[in-house]
Amino acid sequence: MKFGYFDDVNKEYVITTPKTPLPWINYLGTQDFFSLISNTAGGYSFYKDAKLLRLTRYRYNNSPMDQNGRYYYIKEGDTVWNPGWQPVQTPLDSYQCRHGLGYTVFESSKNSLNAKLLAFVPVHDNCEINLLTLTNYTDAEKEFDLFSYIEFCLWNAADDSSNFQRNFSTGEVEVAGSTIYHKTEYRERRNHYAVYSVNHPVNGFDTSRDAFIGLYNSPADPQAVRKGFCSGSIAHGWAPVASHHIHLKLRPGDSVSLVFVLGYCENPKDKKFSAPGVINKEPADRLLARYQTTEQVMAAFQELKDYWTTLLSAYTIQTEDVRLNRMVNIWNQYQCMVTFNMSRSASYYESGLGRGMGFRDSCQDLLGFVHLIPERARQRILDIAATQFPDGSAYHQYQPLTKRGNMDVGSGFNDDPLWLIAGTAAYLRETGDFSILEEPCTFDNDADSTAPLMEHLRRSFQYTATHKGPHGLPLIGRADWNDCLNLNCFSEEPGESFQTTGPNDGPVAESVFIAGMFVKYGREYAEICDALRLDDERDAVLKEVAAMEETVMDAGWDGDWFLRAYDAMSNPVGSKLCEEGQIFIEPQGMCVMAGIGTDITEDGSPSTAARALRSVEERLDTRYGIILQTPAYTTYHVELGEISSYPPGYKENAGIFCHNNPWISCAETVLGHGSRAFEVFKKTCPAYLEDQSEIRRTEPYVYCQMMAGRDAPTHGEGKNSWLTGTAAWTFTCISQYILGIQPTLQGLRINPCIPSDWSGYTCRRIYRGVSYDITIDNSAHVESGVASVTVDGQPVTGTLIPFDAGKKTCKVEVVLG
Ligand code: BGC
Ligand code: NOJ
Repeated sequence: MKFGYFDDVNKEYVITTPKTPLPWINYLGTQDFFSLISNTAGGYSFYKDAKLLRLTRYRYNNSPMDQNGRYYYIKEGDTVWNPGWQPVQTPLDSYQCRHGLGYTVFESSKNSLNAKLLAFVPVHDNCEINLLTLTNYTDAEKEFDLFSYIEFCLWNAADDSSNFQRNFSTGEVEVAGSTIYHKTEYRERRNHYAVYSVNHPVNGFDTSRDAFIGLYNSPADPQAVRKGFCSGSIAHGWAPVASHHIHLKLRPGDSVSLVFVLGYCENPKDKKFSAPGVINKEPADRLLARYQTTEQVMAAFQELKDYWTTLLSAYTIQTEDVRLNRMVNIWNQYQCMVTFNMSRSASYYESGLGRGMGFRDSCQDLLGFVHLIPERARQRILDIAATQFPDGSAYHQYQPLTKRGNMDVGSGFNDDPLWLIAGTAAYLRETGDFSILEEPCTFDNDADSTAPLMEHLRRSFQYTATHKGPHGLPLIGRADWNDCLNLNCFSEEPGESFQTTGPNDGPVAESVFIAGMFVKYGREYAEICDALRLDDERDAVLKEVAAMEETVMDAGWDGDWFLRAYDAMSNPVGSKLCEEGQIFIEPQGMCVMAGIGTDITEDGSPSTAARALRSVEERLDTRYGIILQTPAYTTYHVELGEISSYPPGYKENAGIFCHNNPWISCAETVLGHGSRAFEVFKKTCPAYLEDQSEIRRTEPYVYCQMMAGRDAPTHGEGKNSWLTGTAAWTFTCISQYILGIQPTLQGLRINPCIPSDWSGYTCRRIYRGVSYDITIDNSAHVESGVASVTVDGQPVTGTLIPFDAGKKTCKVEVVLG
């Protein structure tokens, strides 16, 4: 069942009912000011950091209920309704929500009064704009009341949701004409405030929630709306809100447009504004002056649209498959940008209170957006590296506002360091900008401890090289990519499960997955050394990598697939010998991507890598994707940790973790299996699952973190949409491994691995300032193999297009065969 449809021309998903199986959301904002907005106008806004500078309040544990939001109440006679249906839920005569790139439009009607609400954050200002246009489609004059409503958050969202004894006494507002200023915590911080305004005279306002909503009412039935007027309340403590009341009359056929602006402002640093309750309104006045007319708003909206058009022009394809085109050209890249902006902090499943930027997560996200915003990717890499410890290990997370490592979470996830190599190598392949390696970066944000980025990569590599366990495999530490595989746990006491032994202190758990990473990203590091003419280091690195490859074949191969790990007692995890959790997806994907076991056998039997992938297909594949492991754990195992705490089929306990499905798809292309690679790609790709939205439930235009596995009663149900490494990895998989447009340190390589029934496709790729028009001809109907390449009509040998910065455009014709 569908709840809407894709409008590819406008790059929108059009939702046709407010009652989607879960809130289907969108993100507004491109730089510092962001909002979440659902298909019923729910969500909240923040400046830079969802935890520390939150403008509006959201209710937790709230999906699918979804409140608060930016709400507009229209009261005509006794009928009260909202353009987004929530919170009153009055049945609408028509409803549509269009989620576009950085904007959302609602178009609804009740009793022939039409409301169109456009919401977006302009590229160059710290505010959310709501342009509300009301049109009377009847033959008679209409007279009605409009009430806006938002609820302010007292800035620090974590404190706001817990420290009531203080916060109920701190709220402060000020009202001047149609503008409401939210000044709370001004005393403490003395530098910022929020403003909520409308470009129209108001008949009244409220700023106290109790006054507007009523003591025992709810946003579904505010007392002010019921009465038809606001009471001019000024909040003193408790819950400051902002509501404007505007009485309107519309002649038949007439429209009125109102511009509401919710903005973040800072006081200039000046002593006179440090007195309690005094704000400098000039920044707000300047901001509001820029959005007084519909024309100004539409110009800013056009600028936003142009921003996205330019951004997404870096990679566009035309294939015979419209669902593939829309995912690659629009939604997958859009989601990659959202993961750049949010990391894992703010979604409908990440509260915005806890996790900031993940070290591992942000490094992987880079793979998906580096081609879109290389300059910002550069800064991101430097920010991440600056939190690394001198020994190469890493804080698992850091806070976006302070850019400092999060001490509460700490370090010890032993895959983290290698992801820094992955992200940086992707940047170098995209841009060729080796100067980044010379940039000084601190260790642990300590100005006295600084080294060039290259030294950080070196320490990343060395950290793994020097932290190996009894089998010579890398130590897993607290966990690797799989946060829930906690193999160094010895205590059953809740809260004491991380009793990690020191690296050389007795038996400690090892990870075959990190071994695969070490081989893959070790080789990428060696390529960087090679480019820098560090020949000795390159050779030493390749030697370490080759040794690890051998170790994996000796100690990490279970007979038909790669083992997952050894626990702290040196028992294998992910082996035939285990009762449950016999085979895991992660090492199969990572080891084959790394090229381990891919050598062709002399007798023509399948290679080790091919056997591993066949085992994945036989044991882990389902109609909705590949599950993480099997059999699912049915009881809790202290020696395995959180993984065994989930019910079978959910999350890391045999759920379909969408993030590592593309690893298998990429791995299949390493073996030249284009049809299987694409089959795996399609299984978790949202556009192909749109028809099953009642089962998958999450947004059909973005990836979710996981879908319930076959052991779960709700097999196929999606969870945790938007903020997932799936976005970056699926984009890498489709754009580079399947469609085969691969940036390398030397230039673009074209090496597709596709289903044999495709006849061909085209791709426009803007790469290092050159626009490549690439045509792939597969009249031979093969899965892989390049027969010929011509560049601007000239044949070239091999698959690498020599990079020529002097060209603006370049025409590439590739014939497969
Ligand atoms: C989840 C993981 C997640 C981790 C983040 C765990 O509870 O299952 O998917 O990575 O929390 O801290
Ligand atoms: C989600 C986390 O954000 C990611 O870092 C981790 O790799 C996966 N869960 C798997 O546990």
